[in-house]
Amino acid sequence: MKRIGLLSPESERKRHHARKPLEVVSDDQLNRAITGLASPPVTPEKGNGVHVSQSELGKAKRRLDFTIAEGTVERNTTGSVYSLGKSLFLRGSECDKMDDQKTLVSRQQECDHLQSFIETNLAKNNSASIYISGPPGTGKTAQTMSLLDWYTDNAKSQRGSIYDVQIAGRISRVSVVKVNCMAVARPEDVYRIIHREISQSSKRQKLDSETLSKVLADKSICDMNIVVLDELDNLVNKNQQVLFELFTWASNHQQGGPNLLLIGIANALDLTDRFLPRLKNNQINPEVLAFMPYTAEQTKEVIMNKLRILQKMTGGDLDAIPLIQPVAITLCSKKVASNTGDIRKALDIIHRSLDVIEETTRSKVTQSEFDSLTLESAPKVNIGLVAKVCNSIFGVNVGSTKLSGYNLQHKLVLCALANYESHLLESKGKITTVTGSGGSPRRKRLSSTVNGLYEFYTKHVNTDKLMGTLKRGEFIEILNSLESSGSVTIGSGTQTLDYGQSPVSCSISRKELLEAVSDNALLQKVITKD
Ligand SMILES: Nc1ncnc2c1ncn2[C@@H]1O[C@H](COP(=O)(O)OP(=O)(O)OP(=O)(O)O)[C@@H](O)[C@H]1O
Ligand SMILES: [Mg+2]
Repeated sequence: MKRIGLLSPESERKRHHARKPLEVVSDDQLNRAITGLASPPVTPEKGNGVHVSQSELGKAKRRLDFTIAEGTVERNTTGSVYSLGKSLFLRGSECDKMDDQKTLVSRQQECDHLQSFIETNLAKNNSASIYISGPPGTGKTAQTMSLLDWYTDNAKSQRGSIYDVQIAGRISRVSVVKVNCMAVARPEDVYRIIHREISQSSKRQKLDSETLSKVLADKSICDMNIVVLDELDNLVNKNQQVLFELFTWASNHQQGGPNLLLIGIANALDLTDRFLPRLKNNQINPEVLAFMPYTAEQTKEVIMNKLRILQKMTGGDLDAIPLIQPVAITLCSKKVASNTGDIRKALDIIHRSLDVIEETTRSKVTQSEFDSLTLESAPKVNIGLVAKVCNSIFGVNVGSTKLSGYNLQHKLVLCALANYESHLLESKGKITTVTGSGGSPRRKRLSSTVNGLYEFYTKHVNTDKLMGTLKRGEFIEILNSLESSGSVTIGSGTQTLDYGQSPVSCSISRKELLEAVSDNALLQKVITKD
């Protein structure tokens, strides 16, 4: 079959991979363009973690306490009311718990399920496992840690990672070990980490599974070992033997076997399909707890709860909603829920919105007026501002703002595409004759394709003298990066899997593009039909 694609077969095969890393407009640039933020909140990089043993940490937990439980709330209340608000919505700030100190806002069901798993099995001295799955930002880690912290914080006594916890009217000696599998270089290291925590040994010795299983079975150390394997996905992609072994121990109810409550947390969506069936095929049946994406209502409740905390911190009216208009909160919640339901996005949107309103307000009033603003008097984030910030975060309908972060070649390709689409629109209804399979002539309606666009670009966009003409490979790279940042949509190819025949369309309206290039004669020429 003759290929009419623009790329070599090898390049086309790699195309999918090539698309993702090509970010033309960095988040950072975009944030600054929209909000003037110099350093927007960032997700901590996974994989760079350092495992700090809990025994080293002991009870010296340094946590920001943003709860609204009984008692006085000691906080640093210096800075503007906006800074105070922003501190609550900063990524990485302690997530808020309900009055019971263990349940996250909007995660009651999940907390109850996990608590019942732990307590039922502890009461019976049963080994068991639970597999917690769900997309990113649904509170899997935060809820699990919150519940375990609640047990350990209320323990009668503690020795390293071993706690005397009171459950169902009796005291159990329990070890609690939390392992972030992202920080584990080789699966076998998990044995050593667990052993080190339980035995309080600082020796970096090699350890086989048999030694660990004996330690886990040793009732003189503790009655039950609760082991959390967070970011389990990281181990599933490597040697799965270690995981199978741990899940096998946790499903073994024989006397004298390891005493293990295993909590595996995974965020890859397809892990449930890949890993769980393999466990079940091996007669290992962990309980399954799915954390669903936050709904709009739940997201709203998380935001509202943080604002109530703010009122509590400053002694304000708990019924009033400070700093953000209710409709703006609703819009943010709906946008996040309709996207991925990742609560981190909601925190980011509110944080950025507060940043913008803070700067705007500061520029309008004197310093002393600014300093004397209260939660009641401070201008509030409105729906328009949240809409703008949502657009910057989700990368849609940002027209000129998005364009301002592109270089000239990218803008040129976008303008060429807009012009090409206009040409095609004009010739809508026109029929062209193409050669069909088997060599017979076939009549086909004109449509925008990657091949067609490149041909249009080379014929109609005459910028050779000024900045040269892009070679096909370069052109495709730029097109792919425009797609990655949401300005262009490239459909999947035809049955021939020919990338050149993939339909291509501009995701920014022609009107927005025209506005965005109004100060550039060259681009105006490229976008204007001749
Ligand atoms: N219900 C909630 N209320 C307040 N903050 C929350 C809530 N749920 C999650 N968060 C916060 O959102 C962030 C992400 O939560 P968490 O790390 O638990 O998500 P996750 O499901 O484990 O995501 P990943 O799959 O990426 O590991 C954390 O900073 C956490 O404190
Ligand atoms: Mg997590």
